[in-house]
Amino acid sequence: MDNRSFILSPSLLAADFLHLQRDVDMLNQSLTDWIHLDVMDGVFVPNISIGFPVMEQVAKQTVKPLDAHLMIVEPQKFITRFRDMGVQLLTVHYEACTHLHRTVMQIKEAGMKAGVALNPHTPVELLRDILPELDLVLIMSVNPGFSGQKFIPQAFDRVQRLRQLIDSQGLSTLIEVDGGIDLNNAPEMLKAGANALVAGNAIFKTENPLETIKAFKKF
Ligand code: DX5
Ligand code: ZN
Repeated sequence: MDNRSFILSPSLLAADFLHLQRDVDMLNQSLTDWIHLDVMDGVFVPNISIGFPVMEQVAKQTVKPLDAHLMIVEPQKFITRFRDMGVQLLTVHYEACTHLHRTVMQIKEAGMKAGVALNPHTPVELLRDILPELDLVLIMSVNPGFSGQKFIPQAFDRVQRLRQLIDSQGLSTLIEVDGGIDLNNAPEMLKAGANALVAGNAIFKTENPLETIKAFKKF
């Protein structure tokens, strides 16, 4: 796989919310490909993040595609709301969807790309039958709910197994990895077969986020 074409998606959860416009403008000027929006409901995960009033302002301000990661129960209730806001890629959790196939089809019918996220304990093989319908699989390399958590190294093996599954079916589904990604583990993750990386703290908590993004994009 050509590593040079990987997608970088900074997680806004690690931004400075008192200076959100400044941070979104910084991302607009940067080499980043997407912006990752983490949506938490306090039910599926033990935390609450940002809601529509904030996300809608971000959507107005950004020139980058929005990659929304829904860590909520019943995500199907909000599909058109995310579409209307301008989200291009909507990712729901496997563990939160009883009728995953229906939800994925609804996302695509609404005109967005569809992603499915897997918690660290969910075998990647469970996606075998739905894989042809997916634009992206999001492998969680932390338990979802908080930014700044420690990376779980089993994610390397999970990405490799998913890469094999995708390639054996001749698909072009993207593999995105989320949680504890930094400049140290990113190259190995790309080698394992990922082609999109989310990074929160590793970008926003550095002295010069623009330069850090540049450093990521050199891999
Ligand atoms: C975790 C979120 C992640 C998180 C990433 O629940 O889905 O997107 O914000 O932040 P870092 O890169 O700091 O682990
Ligand atoms: Zn996320």
